[in-house]
Amino acid sequence: MTSRRDALKSALLIPSLATLPLDARAAPTPTVAVAGHFTQDAVRLWVQANGPGVAALKYWPVDGTEADARTVAVALGREDCGIARIAGLRADTRYRYRATLEGGGEGIAGTFRTAPAPGASPRDFRVYMGSCAYTEVMTRGGNVYGANHQIFDTMAAGMAADALPHFMLWMGDNLYLRGSGKDGNPDDFATAEAMARRYREVRAKPILGKLFAATHHYAIWDDHDFGNNNSDRTFPLRDESLRLFQGYWPNPDMGSQALPGTWTKFTHQDAEFFLLDNRWYRDAETAPADPAKVMFGREQMAWLKRSLTESRATFKVVAAGTQFLSEAPNGVESGWHSYAGERDDFFAWLDRSDVKGLVLLSGDRHNTQLFRRETKGRPPVHEFSCSPMTSKIVKLNKHDLANPRLDKDCAVETQNFGTLEFSGAGAGRTLVARCFDADGKLQWTRTLASA
Ligand SMILES: [Fe+2]
Repeated sequence: MTSRRDALKSALLIPSLATLPLDARAAPTPTVAVAGHFTQDAVRLWVQANGPGVAALKYWPVDGTEADARTVAVALGREDCGIARIAGLRADTRYRYRATLEGGGEGIAGTFRTAPAPGASPRDFRVYMGSCAYTEVMTRGGNVYGANHQIFDTMAAGMAADALPHFMLWMGDNLYLRGSGKDGNPDDFATAEAMARRYREVRAKPILGKLFAATHHYAIWDDHDFGNNNSDRTFPLRDESLRLFQGYWPNPDMGSQALPGTWTKFTHQDAEFFLLDNRWYRDAETAPADPAKVMFGREQMAWLKRSLTESRATFKVVAAGTQFLSEAPNGVESGWHSYAGERDDFFAWLDRSDVKGLVLLSGDRHNTQLFRRETKGRPPVHEFSCSPMTSKIVKLNKHDLANPRLDKDCAVETQNFGTLEFSGAGAGRTLVARCFDADGKLQWTRTLASA
């Protein structure tokens, strides 16, 4: 235990960077990288260094040599990080990369891959998913809040051994902006500097290293990546959280000039993924029931409906940090049930539409639930609400258990992650969901949709 006075004393003994002779200063070097959105000929790769600069990103097919590499420059921004947009790649190919900063030594190396070119029939693939990643055991206030942190390595090992190509979907609360503790430091969500510090700190956590290296990553956000617990559009630093989220996750372009946010979509094989923003436009959850009360907002819902209608994909996967098919009295527990006007409108529209193959994904609730919505004459709609990877468990409450849409056999009350397997051919093509505990033990398997 170091007292504040000791820490201050030892800090005074270390000369500041500015007083060191020039040759004693280590040049900044890239320290973390995350592969993100990928298509048949392009990949986004996020890179962060331990200082400012412009990173040189070299990449070459694994069957070639570094001598034949091509290079792109990545300008590192405010948090010494940036996203390289690499284009002109070969389809269905694994590449090696190395990111360096001038004078910064070996830098950081890894691999990424491109998607297969569209063929006559879609290939099989898998999506890994999880939410609520508390990266410490204790809160700053001294309460136990995180457990089973081996889950990240379990997932990475599963990916390494997987016969299918894959990517990961981070389902919100991917990090926690924490409340203050007894150390006198402010809440992580109290200032722009504290938020940026927390984003940087979590991304560099060694416990996440293998998982980040193991596959490509996409993300949505929830309250804890956005602001304080249950935060909504009134969160005063939401511009800063949007800047950080967009700066740290190499998703497809998110939001638009006219409609800011983290919402985006992308297609992989015969599945289209719609990633929603459930925080930027959110009215307070505890506000009185009102038909005009929204979680996603009118424009985002219009975009979703339009996108679902236009989608040619067999499977249409809609993801948000908050549960869609939850049921509870207004204001009790978080869910789209607290925004009944918006939810009713969407499902009434869905029931009138031709949209098929819809699957919903969510997280947030510190337990896993599977829902099934039945409508006469239409295929059922499932929601896989997968939580938590490492945060504290909250058992299903009486409102959760009374939800007629809940599949009680699929409730999981331990740290867990999910997978979605898209496989088969023609009419036999299915989307099969599985849930695993932190050690990789299978909890359940369910078919969520078929062609
Ligand atoms: Fe949450």
